[in-house]
Amino acid sequence: SILILDFGSQYSHLITRRCREINVYCEMLPCTQKMADLDWKPKGIILSGSPFSVYDDGAPRVDPAVFDYGVPVLGVCYGLQEIAWNHGGKVDPCDHREYGFAELQVIKLGPGHELADKLFAGIDREMQVWMSHGDQVSVLPPHFNIIGKTPTAPFAAIAHESKPIFGVQFHAEVTHSPRGKEVIKSFVLNICQCKANWTMACRSPDTFIEKEIARIRQICGEKGRVIGAVSGGVDSSVAAKLMHEAIGDRFHAVLVDNGVLRENEAKQVHKMLSEDLGVNLTVVDASDRFLAKLEGVEDPEQKRKIIGNTFIHVFEEEAAKIEAMAEKELETNPGGEVKGKIEWLLQGTLYPDVIESISFKGPSATIKTHHNVGGLLKDMKLKLIEPLRELFKDEVRALGRLLGIPAHLVGRHPFPGPGLAIRILGPVTRDQVKIAQKADTIFIDEIRKAGLYDQISQAFVVLLPVKAVGVQGDKRTYDQVVTLRAVQTEDFMTADWYVFPPEVLRRISSRITNEVAGVNRVTYDISSKPPGTVEWL
Ligand code: XMP
Repeated sequence: SILILDFGSQYSHLITRRCREINVYCEMLPCTQKMADLDWKPKGIILSGSPFSVYDDGAPRVDPAVFDYGVPVLGVCYGLQEIAWNHGGKVDPCDHREYGFAELQVIKLGPGHELADKLFAGIDREMQVWMSHGDQVSVLPPHFNIIGKTPTAPFAAIAHESKPIFGVQFHAEVTHSPRGKEVIKSFVLNICQCKANWTMACRSPDTFIEKEIARIRQICGEKGRVIGAVSGGVDSSVAAKLMHEAIGDRFHAVLVDNGVLRENEAKQVHKMLSEDLGVNLTVVDASDRFLAKLEGVEDPEQKRKIIGNTFIHVFEEEAAKIEAMAEKELETNPGGEVKGKIEWLLQGTLYPDVIESISFKGPSATIKTHHNVGGLLKDMKLKLIEPLRELFKDEVRALGRLLGIPAHLVGRHPFPGPGLAIRILGPVTRDQVKIAQKADTIFIDEIRKAGLYDQISQAFVVLLPVKAVGVQGDKRTYDQVVTLRAVQTEDFMTADWYVFPPEVLRRISSRITNEVAGVNRVTYDISSKPPGTVEWL
């Protein structure tokens, strides 16, 4: 098994994923873990990246015992810098910060250096890697050799001359380092000599469904009732359908229409979950309440907070109403089925969220407060039920298909909890929401018509708070600008912009400017993540 020490990088949990993919058990612990306190013996240690600089006051430090523990160590990004720092090397801010793709030239050391050469076994010369760093090793620590360099990072991969200690500046764990998996595999299987014999209990979706339904029935008992928020997204829909299969109408799904959903979203979710899948669903139209609170607010974090807090209030009120109704029913029909109080709260938490919440969080690690509908309900006095907490997104999709959730929903792009509010760059008003909704519908519609939806991981329209001059029907216009965003990514930690066929862009642009009043220009966002993020706010 592998110990991953987390220094707070956004990508840390992907290292876990890569190890799991090669069927090796791993555990991620905060970087502050003391080796002496460990009650199991890992066969290798991976040090993650970090938002810190090794020379910062208060930068997280690895327990130096890691290097004397007698097992191989691999440092990734900050992990490499931490290795250099601990072994007498130097780390400095780089002249050319690197974000995005870089070409790594692999250096083979040859006879006498078999151990060092093992890390890039099977990779001969160059490989494309994904970088995200502002610091780099500037002086190689003594007794280390260079095993890889990029045009701007002379020490992009290093290995100790006799001990199994390796460092790579690039993020081997992200999918945008296409051969990164092979590097992690070489380390885990060939260098650490782990056996690829671990499998997750839930690997096979159909046995997972059976076991999970039995588990839910057992913990909820004969009467226990469960409430859960749904959003129309894959995770909450799959979780809701699973609960419905397990306990029928004792599960209450609630969809809160916060006024910043997609066009007709509430209606469509109602049709799919309630009419087609039979889930006991209440749709609450709270759009006036949300929009009133959002009035005049421009700051993205403020928008997230308002939506999150208002959501809790609306949801709690709804839970109280459902309980009151059940009691009334009991009064009028005393012999009826006793359903009991709502005791449980369903959350569609996935495995990456679980790892993220146990991992090390540095003071500068928050890029955005990603408010998920579920993540906000911790204060409610309900016990949590999280049927998807062992699964990654692709596994949830496989489950969804087995549970009969329609293909167009299972393959749906994610939609953020704060909705269009973080895609409208200025204050959120009903008019702005309408414009954003209309443009979004056209964009997605044209993407689907062109057969490109499944090639794109997420696509949406951002409404900019600027106006530009245009001419329509011989008249001068002074209207708003929208930007189209479409990215390809496997895990949303890194992403690249999607290359559209020009005629599709032309059609989208022409339809938006013709059909959406108030918009006279359409632009396309060609930023990768990093340095951009997927959303604009
Ligand atoms: P960023 O913009 O951080 O987005 O690159 C990565 C993914 O997260 C989604 N996202 C959110 N989801 N609440 C959510 O539920 C949020 O506050 C939020 N902000 C971003 C985003 O849509 C993308 O899929």
